[in-house]
Amino acid sequence: MSRYISLVVFVLCVASTYAIKVVDIDTICKDEDVNTSLCITLLKSKQGADLLTLAQYTIDVLYTEVNNTVKLIKTLIHQFDKDPTAKSHYRECFELFAKPNGAAAVVEEIENKMKGGDYDGMREMTLSITGDYDTCINDDSPGAIPYPDKSLLPKYAKVVNDVANILYVISKFLMGNV
Ligand SMILES: *[C@@H]1O[C@H](CO)[C@@H](O)[C@H](O)[C@H]1NC(C)=O
Ligand SMILES: *[C@@H]1O[C@H](CO)[C@@H](O)[C@H](O)[C@H]1NC(C)=O
Repeated sequence: MSRYISLVVFVLCVASTYAIKVVDIDTICKDEDVNTSLCITLLKSKQGADLLTLAQYTIDVLYTEVNNTVKLIKTLIHQFDKDPTAKSHYRECFELFAKPNGAAAVVEEIENKMKGGDYDGMREMTLSITGDYDTCINDDSPGAIPYPDKSLLPKYAKVVNDVANILYVISKFLMGNV
């Protein structure tokens, strides 16, 4: 009999170790680091899903937004072919968002970190994406004047930034660090 009890205890322990927490989306979306309205719009349909499901879904959305941004930047580079200042701005943004070194590659690394259970690494990589946004749009290098970008790029890049921030918060919850 006691053998069965210890077996049951063992199974329960293993199950609780592997159970991924469910966190209410309102709790995630209320975090001061996220754009609350975008977060609720995005995650509403996933209410009740566990954190890993939310993370995977948010990664997929992030990748789509990054890809849309890269496509837009490509057309802008062609469109502003005769304007060296604009062109160099868009080329820099292309490096920051496209493969092999930009946000598109980082999203793939984030997915790998998540699958490997490295949630802290995942969290750090989301910061690299918000950093790419800042460098492209706000040109955070000392003394630099941000390019007065009248295109749709600031809007597209802001969505990437905001979705990366949502993923940052989901990573914190996965780390159990909230
Ligand atoms: C939140 O995201 C929406 C949709 O992208 C955007 O229109 C709004 O400006 C964002 N709010 C803030 C505070 O950044
Ligand atoms: C984004 O583009 C890459 C190619 O760079 C492709 O492999 C990937 O599937 C795309 N992801 C989404 C979600 O569209």
